Amino acid sequence: IIEQKKYLIDGELKTWDGNSTQVFSTISSTEDYKPTLLGSIPDMGEPEAMDALGAATKAYGRGQGVWPTMHVKDRIDCMEAFVKKMETKREEVVKLLMWEIGKSLPDSQKEFDRTVEYIYDTIEDYKELDRNAAKFQKHDGVYAHIKRGPLGVVLCLGPYNYPLNETFALLIPAIIMGNTAIFKPAKHGVLLITPLLEAFQSCFPKGVINILFGRGRAVAAPIMQTGKVDVLALIGNSKSANALQNQHPKSNRLRLVLGLEAKNPAIVLPDADLDLTIDECIAGTLSFNGQRCTALKVVYVHEDIAEEFNKRFSKRVDELKFGNPWDDGAKLTPLPEPEKPAYIQGLIDDALVKGAKILNKKGGEHADNYIWPAVLYPVTKDMNVYQEEQFGPVIPIVPFKDIEEPLDDMAESNYGQQVSLFGKDVYALAPLIDTLVNLVCRVNLNSSCQRGPDVYPFTGRKDSAQATLSVHDALRSFSIRTFVAFKDN
Ligand code: G3H
Repeated sequence: IIEQKKYLIDGELKTWDGNSTQVFSTISSTEDYKPTLLGSIPDMGEPEAMDALGAATKAYGRGQGVWPTMHVKDRIDCMEAFVKKMETKREEVVKLLMWEIGKSLPDSQKEFDRTVEYIYDTIEDYKELDRNAAKFQKHDGVYAHIKRGPLGVVLCLGPYNYPLNETFALLIPAIIMGNTAIFKPAKHGVLLITPLLEAFQSCFPKGVINILFGRGRAVAAPIMQTGKVDVLALIGNSKSANALQNQHPKSNRLRLVLGLEAKNPAIVLPDADLDLTIDECIAGTLSFNGQRCTALKVVYVHEDIAEEFNKRFSKRVDELKFGNPWDDGAKLTPLPEPEKPAYIQGLIDDALVKGAKILNKKGGEHADNYIWPAVLYPVTKDMNVYQEEQFGPVIPIVPFKDIEEPLDDMAESNYGQQVSLFGKDVYALAPLIDTLVNLVCRVNLNSSCQRGPDVYPFTGRKDSAQATLSVHDALRSFSIRTFVAFKDN
């Protein structure tokens, strides 16, 4: 049992002596996969929130504080010192990723290593940005020295499914650009921040990063209500983002850096290579039990091949191995959100009442915090599983006759992140690809949807995102171009 009592405000690692909130583990050593008590975190409220905001505001100092005015090289030194210390915590953080959110051992290791690489790549990109800023431009007799400046105080909130990687994909570029931050970890995947607290404390000047624990409503809302936050950086759902944004008295002045929901479709054309398509659709729908914003959340299959695809795909789903995250080859693991199995069951029941069938034998079997993925067919627009971002193990398959059918659905959808297109003749598909890139932001040819490699732009249309993330883009999302100009006279 880990009793996490430390928190970081104004460069001081304080010890919490108030009430605590229990943190449950996704997994247990028993075979019934009941959630077990893993530890506790401080249940903070407005006083700590205001202290953190005060510290971040002071460290920013209207752009004249120690951090935004620090020489680029020194800011890089701080970041390098941090990432080096972070690397020594790999084993501890990976273990907590498995215990807290049930992510498999290889995926937990990948999340850690990917985050470290992300930080090093960000440092390199930042150096490049700085080299370019040193150059003067001259147009029409006006010289300009253009660079990228910070925006101010950032409130940073990450998701439970990538509590390290996606949170740091916000926090690290925000900080390196000279902003200061208040960071509150997600509800699940929170204890894993503990091993990194000392590194944050010792590597950055005081007030640059302030780390709080507790419920979003108790901590984040009062911070927003002060109107002193310049950037809301959040990966999660649009409901939480909108609620927080609306707390800000001058929300039109807020810079939003948001990664939100998606309902990425796979479109399987009649000439698709079925072996490859099925491999990719298994990975796309069920990696980390479908709890990824980039997961394939609906599969459109051309009616000519639907029977064959369905038979082979649903057999493969039932052959996946379920187990604890450290079990060799476990692809399906328990779910961190205790309410998720009942929610998924509700989607299945609704689809069955409205005419779909479960194609795989084990589909929907569940106990406590796991549920076996159900392959549902034929799914129609009136079903909840078609309309909602399920963020879990249930796979709706929609048959289509004409390509206009999935295209119309995508155009009507509230989301627009990515699509996977499966077909052999990619040259003949060029006009279709041209249409798809105007509906989403990334078209994956014969491969499932994903965020990486992290140098590629990660964004979405409509309710899927505000701003672009990636090693390259995030530095721009967390800064603004400023310049000094003078005339040639
Ligand atoms: O949950 C959303 C993440 O951005 C997914 O990232 O495609 O690397 O798993 P990923």
